Amino acid sequence: MSDLMHQDRIRDIVRGAYRTIPSGAGEVTASRLYRPEELAEVPDLAIAWSLGVGNPVRHADLVEGEVVIDLGCGGGIDTILAARRVGPPGRVLAVDTLPEMCERTERAAAEAGVADRVEVVHAEMEDLPVLDDTVDVVISNGVINLSPRKSRALAEASRVLRPGGRFCVSDLTVDDDLPPQVLTSGAAWAGCIAGALSEEVFTTKLTNVGFTDIHLGEHIPFSVDDAALYPLFTDEVIALMRELVPPEQQASIATSLIARARLPEAA
Ligand SMILES: C[S@@+](CC[C@H](N)C(=O)[O-])C[C@H]1O[C@@H](n2cnc3c(N)ncnc32)[C@H](O)[C@@H]1O
Repeated sequence: MSDLMHQDRIRDIVRGAYRTIPSGAGEVTASRLYRPEELAEVPDLAIAWSLGVGNPVRHADLVEGEVVIDLGCGGGIDTILAARRVGPPGRVLAVDTLPEMCERTERAAAEAGVADRVEVVHAEMEDLPVLDDTVDVVISNGVINLSPRKSRALAEASRVLRPGGRFCVSDLTVDDDLPPQVLTSGAAWAGCIAGALSEEVFTTKLTNVGFTDIHLGEHIPFSVDDAALYPLFTDEVIALMRELVPPEQQASIATSLIARARLPEAA
């Protein structure tokens, strides 16, 4: 859907939107996506900045000692959960394009007592300063859809994973096209809707960069009412969706899912 908007414009809109959201906006999201026992494992700071659309760590089967990369770590909620699962012999690379988000993850990791195994990396997921074949598991939560260069982002995920490495990412997909006024709304891009792939295209892009055993599961409908809970959506774009999206589609304008895949083992 980036055919409707210029790549640089999308990148600027996404950065601008995530720079200006108020602190504390993530508490409602966190309480919907994480169990109380998971929330008890992370500091309030990370909960306050929780802006994802799923819970990738719950599905990633992380084991002690693994190296994980969290693409678009935001305030660090999944980074910290992953750091707890991989333990002190493991490592989590927490990547975000915004220095403000990197700083929040760094602080949250220190508060959680897992700073020894979290390395915060200020970078774009489309250009990772990480060596080839060095990561066991890629996680991410509500971020791939934000990229105007998704094939490039997925190619980078594949490049840094070792043979047999796993991809376990929460994201939104959109299968029924949305009105162009919504697709060209900056707030709808930043809110993870306008840039979302269809399941078919997501699967094709994963296949094209070498992934196998691709499984898109844990489908949950994402409604206009759900969108209204996120600070990225303006009142204006919510009103636009209520007006332009057919009533029967409003309960499911997108789907939250977990995309799982892996690279083939070395020959
Ligand atoms: C929807 S929030 C999700 C944050 C976090 N994963 C969570 O679940 O709370 C998207 C995050 O991705 C970051 N981001 C957006 N585009 C990015 C890019 N191209 N590379 C790295 N991070 C990006 C934003 O700065 C923001 O922190």
